[in-house]
Amino acid sequence: MLDTGFLLAVVCIAIGVIGTLAQRRKADEPPGPLSFPFLGNSWRVPAKKTWMYFYSLREKYGHIVMLKELGKATLVLNNVEDVQELLFKRSGNYSSRKSLIYAQKYRSGGRRLALLPYGPQLKKQRAAVYTMMNPKVVGAYERLQEQASMKLMASIMNDPSKVYIDIKRFTAETLFMLIYGKSFDGDEDLRTVLHILQSFTQDMHPYAHLVDRFPALDWLPDVLAPWRVEARKKGEYEIKFYTRLLSDVKARMDAAGGQLECFAAGLWENVEQLGLDELSMAYVAGSAFEAGTDNTAAVILWFLVAMMHNPAVLRRAQEEIDQVLGGEGETAPCYHHFDQLPYCMALVKEVLRWHPAAPLAGPHHTLKDDDYKGFHIAAGTTVIGNIWAIHRDDHLYPNAASFDPERYLVEKKDMSPELLIEGHYAFGFGRRICPGQLFAAKSVYIAMVRLMWAFNINPPKDGNGKLILPDINAVRPGLTAEPAHFNVVFTPRSARHAQTVQQEC
Ligand code: HEM
Repeated sequence: MLDTGFLLAVVCIAIGVIGTLAQRRKADEPPGPLSFPFLGNSWRVPAKKTWMYFYSLREKYGHIVMLKELGKATLVLNNVEDVQELLFKRSGNYSSRKSLIYAQKYRSGGRRLALLPYGPQLKKQRAAVYTMMNPKVVGAYERLQEQASMKLMASIMNDPSKVYIDIKRFTAETLFMLIYGKSFDGDEDLRTVLHILQSFTQDMHPYAHLVDRFPALDWLPDVLAPWRVEARKKGEYEIKFYTRLLSDVKARMDAAGGQLECFAAGLWENVEQLGLDELSMAYVAGSAFEAGTDNTAAVILWFLVAMMHNPAVLRRAQEEIDQVLGGEGETAPCYHHFDQLPYCMALVKEVLRWHPAAPLAGPHHTLKDDDYKGFHIAAGTTVIGNIWAIHRDDHLYPNAASFDPERYLVEKKDMSPELLIEGHYAFGFGRRICPGQLFAAKSVYIAMVRLMWAFNINPPKDGNGKLILPDINAVRPGLTAEPAHFNVVFTPRSARHAQTVQQEC
């Protein structure tokens, strides 16, 4: 009879050999850091500022880098040429998403748009969002965006210390109005949304949960997998919230004899044509809301950071605004001034480039095997287009680290709001490109232009009169790159500016 010690040793060696083979880099695979048996090398990937880590790999391995873990591969693209070819031109193959077990299977019941694999459900949900966000209808929301941005300025004027929450309220409430046709009932809805968002953006990080790295853990029963119970609980909480909002719209529609103008009402009206069940409708409305709120707010927060670091840029934009509207502060800029403010338009684009709010976009996933530049890219590879790396490429954007709106200046005659979404990659790639991009760009535009019109924006000073500038490299954890907490001083540019804001609000 064989000795048990010997058997154990054979099993261990076999596991080691299989594990090593699974990790071995094939000759035609892109280069990347050394893999360890079973652990692979994605354990090296930090959850914070992941984009910087991926960016740093290019020095050693080149622009196309592959990380491996238990036979699963993650391909990082740090270069615009590769992103253009794979994520845009070959987007039929590069537009799926990896099925995240924690965030999608258990937390979202497989229905969250941003995590859906490529297929009929994704097409239906994106088509539904497109009815609300396509360029033909986005123009109709300008009044709503102008009103909300005026409210933002009035809130900052009244209590500048609450600017962070005011910006979140601006982005969340504009979308809430558009999607559910009413403002928040109170702060409770805003708090709930921010809570869902904060925990969801952490959960959707591909390295946040062990089960997404070692899917075999999903075979464990609930009693040994407390994470599963936790994920389901979070899902129940948010679907209750989103279903309540959707049902409330239906009740208001019924009370108004079917007459209600908002995205959720459109979903109810076209329920058969869209082919979505009620849970998917609740998620598609909720997803649009989630996907838009934090990203839009992060862009405005980066704008404030940029203005404190670049006072000359702020002054030049204010001069341009004053030339068009007069410097007295009697009239606030509106969308119809757009084509008269080329420097402001360039400034907004530069904010989107300089510090992208979603530096890694969403991880794309390949459906079938592919070959590119002599490398083999297997089906089921996660592909990350590193927006941060592209936006920091000095060949594409000379002196890329500096904040310089001049790089986007165009002649006045060529101006249109669509320009805001061109010349950078802040909204992602190919068939997964952000469906809310034009609306979002116009939201951040009106907020920034009006803030520059109404306020001088400065860093605070310490006891010795030294400026306390925000740290450009400090970000909050998560997939959305939001600047870490900073202080900022808003000073109304004149009593008349302040009065105009209060009057128009
Ligand atoms: C300035 C604000 C925004 C930025 C920077 C931004 C950026 C992005 C990025 C980078 C992606 C991932 C694209 C990819 O994976 O290639 C994305 C996806 C998405 N965004 Fe936005 N976004 C913003 C605002 C909005 C708004 C207002 C909406 C409202 C409809 C929205 C809805 C979505 C949805 C639903 C997705 C998922 C698309 C999919 O997976 O197919 N976003 N966004």
